Amino acid sequence: MRTTIKELLGSYKKNLHHDITVQGWVRAFRSNRFIALNDGSTINNLQIVVDFENFGEDLIKNISTASSLKIVGEVVESQGSGQNIEIIAKKIQILGDNFTEERDKTILQPKKHSLEILREQAHLRFRTNLFGAIFRVRSAISFAIHQFFHHNQFAYMNTPIITGADAEGAGEMFGITAFDLNEIPRDENGDIDFEQDFFGKKTNLTVSGQLNVEAAMMGLGRVYTFGPTFRAENSNTTRHLAEFWMVEPEVAFNNLEDNIDLAEDFLKYVIGYVLENCKDDLVFLDQRFADEQKQKPEKDRASEGLIEKLENVIKKRFKRVSYTEAIDILKNSKENRKGKFQFPIEEWGADLQSEHERYLVEKHFESPVVLFDYPKEIKAFYMKLNDDGKTVAAMDVLFPGIGEIIGGSQREEKLAVLKEKMKAMNVDEHELWWYLDTRKFGSVPHSGFGLGLERLVLFVTGMTNIRDVIPFPRTPKNAEF
Ligand code: 4AD
Ligand code: MG
Repeated sequence: MRTTIKELLGSYKKNLHHDITVQGWVRAFRSNRFIALNDGSTINNLQIVVDFENFGEDLIKNISTASSLKIVGEVVESQGSGQNIEIIAKKIQILGDNFTEERDKTILQPKKHSLEILREQAHLRFRTNLFGAIFRVRSAISFAIHQFFHHNQFAYMNTPIITGADAEGAGEMFGITAFDLNEIPRDENGDIDFEQDFFGKKTNLTVSGQLNVEAAMMGLGRVYTFGPTFRAENSNTTRHLAEFWMVEPEVAFNNLEDNIDLAEDFLKYVIGYVLENCKDDLVFLDQRFADEQKQKPEKDRASEGLIEKLENVIKKRFKRVSYTEAIDILKNSKENRKGKFQFPIEEWGADLQSEHERYLVEKHFESPVVLFDYPKEIKAFYMKLNDDGKTVAAMDVLFPGIGEIIGGSQREEKLAVLKEKMKAMNVDEHELWWYLDTRKFGSVPHSGFGLGLERLVLFVTGMTNIRDVIPFPRTPKNAEF
């Protein structure tokens, strides 16, 4: 029976003096005697003790860092420090060729490698302690997200990836077509004739599943979608991806305050789950984070350790501040008066940039902040118009080191108001006829939000570049692997 290293280390007593089979990759081979084996199930390695007299010299010679091995051996209590058990190897089989002569072109050459270099190595990146930890945590976060919604009686809806709609009305879409690009049919006006295309209309990759999940909410009450979304915004930053994963709950009868409560409970649940269930990986990431802080000038260092930060976030209530209050704070801030912001805040109505969000969260409140009631002009067409006629019932959750992690709102449930807003914002009513229909036959007040999965993974792992928390990043000029 093959076991994972995680299983074995987790319940080693019951395996003592039994023979077991493990398979994994060599992390290190010391003194022709000790193999540190890792199979990806945990950050911890299993020590294999090789008595070289029992094995051919050829075999021993061919074992090196990165070799893949199958090992049968006896579980014994370890003589050395650092582990409870080790395996006395009885059989060793090398499973794959190890191209040692090409090693110098890879991250296997024994020295420290930058994250940029690691990003260039599709599969070896996953073999490192750091990326093993990041992607186990990412997986646990996804699981906790489903669990949270499952516990709260939400139905998981799969929304389409191919759509005709621009859900955010921001025009940042990747078009898709089945046309031969060398022979694109045109109509009498010389425009591309999408009627002849695969779907008989213009289509694109989805920027958000929200409009579809709103339709489902109108029957199922509490729903969420969790899938890939695509944005052709040309932002080459450490916070933006062209392909990212978004979680979008939508709840019938929830107002804006209910929506903020849901977002706060949700984030705390997921972070709490990781603290509880990913201890070994978090300890490693916490140490890496601390080491990284030491490299920085004192004034730029984080005031808390990674685990400490996560524990504090789930303890404190998030600060809730209206956009109008936030503008006052920003306008009167020393930063603004001294011209330190790249985008100075002059008046009510200004769109907030990430420098402003981070000022509020990291300097002013020193806490996660929920901003609400934004000017209608800077938010999407579907948001509910407030009684003041100037603001919409929008909310953004801002996190330290990240900025916006969640964006959401109460939705405009009144057909006439929604139509008016769409007209004012140049959103095509024809394409969205089915969405407008959701405001007929029993429209209800409702709310929802979107969480960018990668931004949460950034926060939880203490990484700084979003490219390092998604297995295969897609960014401007980069779609390798
Ligand atoms: O604020 P956004 O654009 O909101 C929506 O798409 C709504 N339809 C959500 C809803 O109400 N159902 O995006 C939501 C979140 C952001 O707060 C951010 O965390 C993430 O998605 N996000 C990105 N993450 C990575 N790369 C990008 N280019 C992102 N754009 C948005
Ligand atoms: Mg947003």
